[in-house]
Amino acid sequence: MPEAIINHVSAGREEFASLGSVLIIDDEAAIRESLQTLLDLEGYEVETAGDGGEGLAHLADRPFDLVLLDFALPERNGIEVLRDIRERDSELPVIMITAYGTVENAVNAMQAGATNFIQKPWDNQKLLADVRTAVGRRRAEEEVIQLKRALKQRYNFEHIIGKSEAMLRIFDLVAQVAPSRSTVLLQGESGTGKELIAKAIHMNSPRKDRAFVPVNTGSTPPDLLESTLFGHVKGAFTSAIASKKGLFEVADRGTLFLDEIGTMNLETQAKILRVLQDRKFMHLGGVNQIQVDVRIIAATNVDLRQQVKEAKFREDLFYRLNVITIDLPPLRQRKNDIPLLAEHFIAKFAEQNDRPALRLTPEALRPLMDYDWPGNVRELENVIERAVVLATGPNLTPDLLPDQLVGRGSQFAIMDHPPDASLFEIIEDCERRIISDMLEKCNWNQTEAADRFRIPLSTLNQKIKRLSVEIKKNQKRE
Ligand SMILES: Nc1ncnc2c1ncn2[C@@H]1O[C@H](COP(=O)(O)OP(=O)(O)OP(=O)(O)O)[C@@H](O)[C@H]1O
Ligand SMILES: [Mg+2]
Repeated sequence: MPEAIINHVSAGREEFASLGSVLIIDDEAAIRESLQTLLDLEGYEVETAGDGGEGLAHLADRPFDLVLLDFALPERNGIEVLRDIRERDSELPVIMITAYGTVENAVNAMQAGATNFIQKPWDNQKLLADVRTAVGRRRAEEEVIQLKRALKQRYNFEHIIGKSEAMLRIFDLVAQVAPSRSTVLLQGESGTGKELIAKAIHMNSPRKDRAFVPVNTGSTPPDLLESTLFGHVKGAFTSAIASKKGLFEVADRGTLFLDEIGTMNLETQAKILRVLQDRKFMHLGGVNQIQVDVRIIAATNVDLRQQVKEAKFREDLFYRLNVITIDLPPLRQRKNDIPLLAEHFIAKFAEQNDRPALRLTPEALRPLMDYDWPGNVRELENVIERAVVLATGPNLTPDLLPDQLVGRGSQFAIMDHPPDASLFEIIEDCERRIISDMLEKCNWNQTEAADRFRIPLSTLNQKIKRLSVEIKKNQKRE
């Protein structure tokens, strides 16, 4: 069983937290301050709000492990705020605080979904014990959810679809490199399946029961990235209220997935290089060397060689990463994977939405095959999900596909034409494009195109000549 699949979302969240994050909602500044100090000193990350609205805004902003909620708030009382919180998050622990611990208040609060109830003036030790219990439970629940998710998805080969030559070669390569500790560099356009392959390498390696730790090196600000990767000691910077492990440690004996590495800044690149060289690093602000056994998989959708040429990427790091490179081809270059992927996603979303799998009609498959897929497999996945959700009958028909796949008619808008074009010229232009599109669909077979237009072949020929329709390839002798 995988120990944990750590998501970089939660990594960001744990940035300042040691024990957990707590939101205090209380209208009295003195109460807020004393609670904040108490929890701060204990090692919690604390934020405060003076009323329900402000508190809910905080909750919308970022995740918390616990809310301490005053019972008697101005405007909307604590119970009402609790109901709002419950609407957003049915599991978030909420401890209610009141000056008047009547039985009635306690019953109301518990019925509205409070986790616990504390009376003012509180006993610090008792309050801390309650906070510890509630946060601990929240953390354990989250871990179970993550584990379940990881197990359910068991990123083994069976979840990766492909029968094209290119993908078969990649599967071979993945099986070959997975057992080793070699660094792997995955290159490919957005949505080609880099992360999926990275997980497959991990799950087919001896490290599979340890953590797979993705970290988005591109979108994380440099300072935050370094403390996320290397950790920090208490006091390393102003907000470092407690020491924190870095993801290199979290990934010890597991795999660290450095996503979007092409956009990492040069300074961080130098530090990463050092870890790759001696598998040792130091916490920010720390003095001790920490030894780790981490397998690195990196991914990029920009051309790293080009980045090296432009001095945006360190050459030495490039060679360190470039031990084994796997190039994921764009979907348009492996179109025979499309039907398989489409069926796979139909089944996936049918199950997710609890409805029978749609039948992919040949009429709908045609535009799927014709389209260029700039967003690659992810775009195909989204298109199929949309179709499954919109479908009312048993078939996946072309009307369930988005405009960019089937809405060729919209290309003929008047906007496309010069403002002084006459109606006659616009119609001719449209006719030219319609004929050209049909010919392309029929693989430039004019007989088939004439049949589908239900006009004689000679008429089509005349039109092609008169309108100077460009004939591209496979032109049949007719
Ligand atoms: N061969 C495949 N078989 C099944 N699903 C796939 C395949 N390739 C990609 N997918 C699915 O497509 C989506 C995008 O894949 P993934 O996130 O791995 O792409 P990526 O290359 O990391 O993209 P980006 O550069 O945008 O991060 C995911 O939901 C993934 O499961
Ligand atoms: Mg990705």
